[in-house]
Parts: sequence; C-alpha cells; structure tokens
Amino acid sequence: MKLDGVPSRTIWLERDGWSVGILNQTLLPHKIDRVTLRTVEDAAHAIKSMQVRGAPLIGVTAAYGVALAMRADASDAALDHAVKFLAVQRPTAVNLRWALEDMRATLAPLAVNARVAAAYARAGAIAEDDVEMCRHIGLNGLALIKDLAEKKDGRPVNILTHCNAGWLACVDWGTATSPIYQAHDAGIPVHVWVDETRPRNQGAALTAFELLQHGVPHSLIADNAGGHFMQRDDVDLVIVGTDRVTAGGDVANKIGTYLKALAAHDNAVPFYVALPYSTIDWSIEKGADIPIEERGADEVLNVQGRLSNGDIASVAISPEGTPARNPAFDVTPARLVTGLITERGVCAASRQGLLSLYPEKKSAAA
Ligand code: MRU
Repeated sequence: MKLDGVPSRTIWLERDGWSVGILNQTLLPHKIDRVTLRTVEDAAHAIKSMQVRGAPLIGVTAAYGVALAMRADASDAALDHAVKFLAVQRPTAVNLRWALEDMRATLAPLAVNARVAAAYARAGAIAEDDVEMCRHIGLNGLALIKDLAEKKDGRPVNILTHCNAGWLACVDWGTATSPIYQAHDAGIPVHVWVDETRPRNQGAALTAFELLQHGVPHSLIADNAGGHFMQRDDVDLVIVGTDRVTAGGDVANKIGTYLKALAAHDNAVPFYVALPYSTIDWSIEKGADIPIEERGADEVLNVQGRLSNGDIASVAISPEGTPARNPAFDVTPARLVTGLITERGVCAASRQGLLSLYPEKKSAAA
C-alpha cells in the first residue's frame, strides 16, 4: 500500500542482498523511521519491542531472523537455537511458530553450506505468499461489502475495526483492511470506524495512519464508543484480524475485541474475522488454551504521543504507584463470530467450517 504516495511494504531485503529493512512501528504515525536488522538478535528485538507487530508480520520477520542467524552460523545447533530464541519473543500470534516450523523443516534436511541461500529464498517466499493471501482475503471480503453496499443506496458502508490488522500488520494489504482497500479502490463508498485500541493505540496510531495514507474515509473513536454506534445503526459490519484461530473457530485478537463481538451480537451487526491459513492453530480446539501475552503495566499507566514541539513523548495518566494489569489479547468465542474470511473463501467459525476450506487438515485438527 502507499506510504507518502509510494507503494511500500513493511519488510524488505536491503540492497546489500542480506540485511533486512523494517518500518519502526513504535514511532508511527509521528515519524517514518526505517531500521535495518543485521542479526537474529536484531530480529528478536524488533518482534519483542513491537517495532514490527501484527501476527503475519511477526511470522515473516522471524523467518528472516532465521536467515540472519544462518548467515552467522548455519550449523544444526545454530538453527535450533535461532528457532527456539525467536519463538519465545511473543506468545499469542501463532504465525510466529508457524513460520519458524516452516523454516526449520526447509533447512534441517539441507547440507550446512546450502542453508543460507535456502533460508533467504524461503523467507522471501513466505513474505510473497503473505501478500498473495492478503490480496485474496480482500477479494473474498469484498463480496460481503458489495452486498451491503447494494442495500445502502449510495451511502457509505460503515465498517468498524479494532487494533491494526492492516498492511502494517502484514507485508502488504492487511487482513481486516484488505476488503476495505479493495472496496475503496473499486469505487464502493466505505467509511471506517477506527477503535483507538488502548493501551498501545494501534488503531489511533497505525490504522488511522494507513487509511489516511490510502485516502479511505474513516473516523477515530474511543474504544468505548463502538456499542453506541451499533445501537444507532451506524455500523453495517465489523471486520477484525486475529492472532490465532483454534480448530474449533475461537478467535484470539487484541484486547477489547471480545467486547466488540458482544456488542455486535446484541445489535445483530455481522462480525467477521479475516485471517490467512498461517493463523489457524489446528493443534488446539478451545480458545481457553491460547496463551495470552501479559505485557508491562507501563503501557496502561502511560500514553505515547507527539508534543506541540514535535517531540514524541510518553506521559503518565494515573497516580504514581497505581497498580495495573495488561493482558494484550482476549478470546472471542466462535458463537459470536459471523464468519471467517480467509484466502480460500468465507466459512463458519467452526471445525466444520474450517475443514470445508482446508480439507487437507482433517487429520491435523485437534
Ligand atoms: O500486539 P499487536 O499489535 O501485535 O496485535 C496485533 C493484533 O492483534 C492484530 O489485530 C492481529 O495480529 C491481526 S494482524 C493482521
């Protein structure tokens, strides 16, 4: 998608052919800062500190992290260490484990001197595959938006989204935003309600930024406002992304997603979740078994923003000494999900629904 009018991606191979460029998302939207990753430690730091974030992008960064590790040492022990080291940086997004298992399976059978080239080729393929999957998620979700648009007599289709499941969370297009970009590009009037998404404000900082960059009409709303707009018929559709979907169709996503699903259910607003196949965890059935990342209290006790002099600063919002809890994700039960939008089509959030799109997984499902 576009950054300052230029088609851009969130991760790329630098001109030297081996180091990896990323957009440092901790400074967006106030500063466009590009960072170069040269070691597996750099990749791990980028994931943990959320310079890169969003389930698909975490996976792609980890894949390149393995390639960087192989460049330093391509032995069996180094491969094992890199995979284990990267896997523990963030626990909830299953794409991280998926990408690392893919890298291990690709590299382990190869001779040590063939591993560096193979690692870069595989990481590049995972990145390209992500772009294609997101494009197809967009095409499949576009059909839903088109149907709603037909009933709106030229008025915009109002879509609410939570967190950032846009191109910044992937390599390009995004998951939840891909249908929105495709509808906008096709001339269908859309308007997006952007949840600010406390505590890290991925909606305010990232989703608003990328929609603005692409020219998609949107309004930022406080996290607590979504239910109000749903009651007033101002939301036609909710689309969110996800960090992990179980074989039974339960959905982990950014904290607060569950409350939006409850409000959507109470107001008969369709609630869809967009995801690529790399986000499905076939090994577990129930959302209660998804590990939920608990992050530092400082993220709840402070907010980051731009001061009038242009500096980026963090300020406290509560009395010194106030304790806080910060679960980063919650689980929306399958019963509250109208459907899953995947690269293969739209299905029910259930084992049966998922297997109708991924029949080859019949033996893998928990
Ligand atoms: O903590 P984050 O910013 O990595 O959380 C991101 C989300 O929850 C996204 O909605 C999810 O990863 C889907 S991204 C396409």
